[in-house]
Amino acid sequence: MISEEFRSRALALVQPERREHVEGTARTAEHLAKRWGADVCSAVTAALLHDCTKHIKGAEQLKLCERYGIIITQDDRESPGVLHAMSGAEFALREFGVAREVADAIRTHTTGAPEMTMLQRIIYLADLIEPTRSFRGIDEIRSLADTDMLEAMIAATAHTVIYLCEGRRAVHKATVSTYNALLRERARRADK
Ligand SMILES: [Fe+2]
Ligand SMILES: [Fe+2]
Repeated sequence: MISEEFRSRALALVQPERREHVEGTARTAEHLAKRWGADVCSAVTAALLHDCTKHIKGAEQLKLCERYGIIITQDDRESPGVLHAMSGAEFALREFGVAREVADAIRTHTTGAPEMTMLQRIIYLADLIEPTRSFRGIDEIRSLADTDMLEAMIAATAHTVIYLCEGRRAVHKATVSTYNALLRERARRADK
C-alpha cells in the first residue's frame, strides 16, 4: 500500500494544473497493474512520480540532467520533452529511494524503450490514456489496454509518432526503435 505521506510528498512536486493528470495516471496504472498481474504498489509509485521533475524547464532541466550525470544526446536536445523522464527517474531514486524497476518505468514513460517490462508498458500507457487525456483514437487504445497489451503499445507508439509528425516535431530515435521492436515482438508472437 502507498502511504498518504508518500502520496502527498510526490504530489507536492507537481504543479497544481498537472495534479489531475498525475492522479489519473496513478488510477489507470493501478487498474492496468491489476489487469495484467503487475505489482500494484510499484505501478502506483512510478505513476505518482513519473512527472516529478516536469516543472523544471529549459536550461534548468538541462542543468539537473548534467548534475545527475545523464548523458544528453542530440536526439534528446531535439525533443527536450524527454528530459524530465530521465531526470525524474534519477530524482525518484535519490530522493524517494524507489526500486530500480520503478525508476526504469519513469525513465521510459515518454519515449518507451525496446524490451520494456510489463511495469514500463503500464506506465507508458497510463500516462497516455488516463482519464483527462483526449485525442483521436484514444478509445481504441483504452480498450486494447484491457485486452491486448502488445497491440495497445503498438497503437500508443504509432499514435505518438503520427502526432509528432503532424505537428512537424522531431521524433526521438527511442520512440521509433520502440515502435519497431514492438512490431518485431508481434511478428514473433504470430510465429508461435
Ligand atoms: Fe511525462
Ligand atoms: Fe505525464
